[in-house]
Amino acid sequence: MNAPRHFLDLRKLDRATLRDVLDRAVAYKNGKKAPSLKGKTLALVFEKPSTRTRISFQVGMRALGGETLSLTQDDSQLGRGETIADTARVLSRYVDAIMFRTSKEKNLLEMAEHASVPVINGLTDTSHPCQLMADVMTFEEHRGPIAGRTVAWCGDGNNVAATWIQASLQFDFALHLACPASRLPAKALLDWANQEGERVTLFEDPQAALVDADCVVTDTWFSMGHSDGEAVRKLLAPYQVNDILMKAAKAEAIFMHCLPAHRGEEVTPSVLDGPQSVVWDEAENRLHAQKGILTWCLA
Ligand code: CP
Ligand code: NVA
Repeated sequence: MNAPRHFLDLRKLDRATLRDVLDRAVAYKNGKKAPSLKGKTLALVFEKPSTRTRISFQVGMRALGGETLSLTQDDSQLGRGETIADTARVLSRYVDAIMFRTSKEKNLLEMAEHASVPVINGLTDTSHPCQLMADVMTFEEHRGPIAGRTVAWCGDGNNVAATWIQASLQFDFALHLACPASRLPAKALLDWANQEGERVTLFEDPQAALVDADCVVTDTWFSMGHSDGEAVRKLLAPYQVNDILMKAAKAEAIFMHCLPAHRGEEVTPSVLDGPQSVVWDEAENRLHAQKGILTWCLA
């Protein structure tokens, strides 16, 4: 039997595969008929809440002719200590693919190691590759090829920021990262990025990071599982994406945010709901990007 086609992280996949997935996503969005997934079932396993990931996978799978079923820690034996490995073995006997949203990357890897069907990363504490496929698709839809362009991340160096780092290497664009020194993505990932090519530049000053940016991105200051706190709020306040900061980017720069957003914290309503924002297209593109991922995994 062939090894399952897992979609775990951008850096684990080759560039041709990532481009193939994006080409499929764009074609499906433009009306091309996707291969049918009739008779296939995708299990959605959530250890954390979700709106976009849950619904876009459900609707996407249904549109492709397949079905989904959803389980959480609380309504499955995972919450009572059944191992992820055993869950992977059992689910593989019932379903054709598994999407897993979990905290630790090691949980995702355990699911993939023991599943005999494809496993898709639906977000971990360190990455969110389905989101980045939609984000690259959204950039290209609005501004053409992302290769050679500049994206500025401003805010917490969280899982989504870490995946932008992976994307910058895989899709060949410059990434300016403006994060407080204590909230940078993991050093091991930054070291990997440095070794792979000089795409990522760190900035302390958000204004400087935005110079020449074609796209400005941010995300919540408090990711799921992280505690809210005044000290963090204060630390990140200078990184808020607001009208003054946006003026430092190119006049035609677009604004992206994976959502959910917190107006008045990481971004002002004037930017999120303003003319440069493409966040609703970005949310829609989760659906199309994941159809690309599903047909690639289940081909
Ligand atoms: N952007 C994103 O993954 O949203 P959800 O947490 O709602 O799935
Ligand atoms: N960084 C956020 C992304 C949510 C989609 C979180 O992990 O909560």
